Amino acid sequence: MENEHRYRTGLSELDRVLGGGLVKGSLVLISGDPGIGKSTILLQICEYLGRDLRILYVSGEESARQIKLRAGRLGVSSPNLRILAETDIQLISEHIRTEKPDVVMIDSIQTMNYADLNSSPGSVTQVRECTNAILRCVKSLDIPAILVGHVNKDGAIAGPKVLEHIVDAVLYFEGDRQMTYRILRAVKNRYGSTNEIGVFDMGESGLRQIENPSEAMLSGRPQNASGTCVTAVMEGTRPLLAEIQGLATASGYGTPRRMATGFDYNRMALILAVLEKRAGFFFSGLDAYLNVVGGLRVDEPAVDLAVAIALISSLKDTPVRDDTVVFGEIGLAGELRSVSHIEQRVSESFRLGFTRCVLPAHNLKNIDAKRFPDIQLLGVRNVREAFEASV
Ligand SMILES: Nc1ncnc2c1ncn2[C@@H]1O[C@H](COP(=O)(O)OP(=O)(O)OP(=O)(O)O)[C@@H](O)[C@H]1O
Ligand SMILES: [Mg+2]
Repeated sequence: MENEHRYRTGLSELDRVLGGGLVKGSLVLISGDPGIGKSTILLQICEYLGRDLRILYVSGEESARQIKLRAGRLGVSSPNLRILAETDIQLISEHIRTEKPDVVMIDSIQTMNYADLNSSPGSVTQVRECTNAILRCVKSLDIPAILVGHVNKDGAIAGPKVLEHIVDAVLYFEGDRQMTYRILRAVKNRYGSTNEIGVFDMGESGLRQIENPSEAMLSGRPQNASGTCVTAVMEGTRPLLAEIQGLATASGYGTPRRMATGFDYNRMALILAVLEKRAGFFFSGLDAYLNVVGGLRVDEPAVDLAVAIALISSLKDTPVRDDTVVFGEIGLAGELRSVSHIEQRVSESFRLGFTRCVLPAHNLKNIDAKRFPDIQLLGVRNVREAFEASV
């Protein structure tokens, strides 16, 4: 069970994001929108952890009975799981010191209260002091603790930035609550890489790991429709295919609307400007919308070209070929710049049944084409060439 002071959680996607499991004595913050699955994932790992370890799950949000009901629904019945409904952090610390559990979970840090302070729970001071109290307690006992953190309406972790400095790792749950996919990402990790993601879907019996995320991200992709383009992004060590959707439509009002979901808004504005100035595709009188399907957030420059192609495809109402994957970074001069991990992107595309890759011409020299006899590699030099090769 214990491997280099790391506890496996029974969810390999979570272990991957943690850098190989939960490090003994570490403090992990898990955050995300309401209802995204923070409490669910914590309860779920209790079954596996509870085989050899004693777990204390402290909730300030739900009663012990509610949590037991939920645990039952998730199939968690470990006798090693102790549930405590409590918000007084000093009492909780004492409890931890006397009971000495092997793992502590606090749901959520914003509901905890340090009685000596007169500010209300969830305030900056309270959150900081409660986190410090837990930190002292678990570091001295060398046990790991996982804290749940709420987000404010801008999506940032509620409370002081200092919270993120105190803890060893910050995991963030992304995804659209309306959709079933949930993506877990490390935004900070003192014990591992911050590039790895874990992909889950939420069902009746809790979160399920997705073994083949590319396939999941592409499921339901419209055939022969304009305004959609598949790309290959690198998420840590794994390539992942994603569908980018663009919509350009006549604007009803003075200033055209621009909206991006799952992609940086400013980067989208920049790409539109380059398309207009350098490639002769005009969006100025049009509303432009962009969406990355599946609740995924992509922020790699290699996605630029697929963003451009999805928007142009909508503008021209010309579908991108179903068998084609597009990637490449766009420079301000409209040139295409090469991207990293080219062979991994191409092989993932091939694995998912694609037979054509449109990529920056410069990248062709980094790839051994003989390794990919069944996939056409189309090197292009600018956006216009890329569009012609994609449709
Ligand atoms: N009885 C149920 N049957 C099926 N799915 C459920 C059920 N109860 C909850 N869920 C799913 O679990 C999700 C809630 O997950 P969870 O309570 O773990 O979220 P959370 O991140 O802890 O939210 P909060 O910040 O509000 O505590 C819901 O969005 C829903 O999809
Ligand atoms: Mg919860």
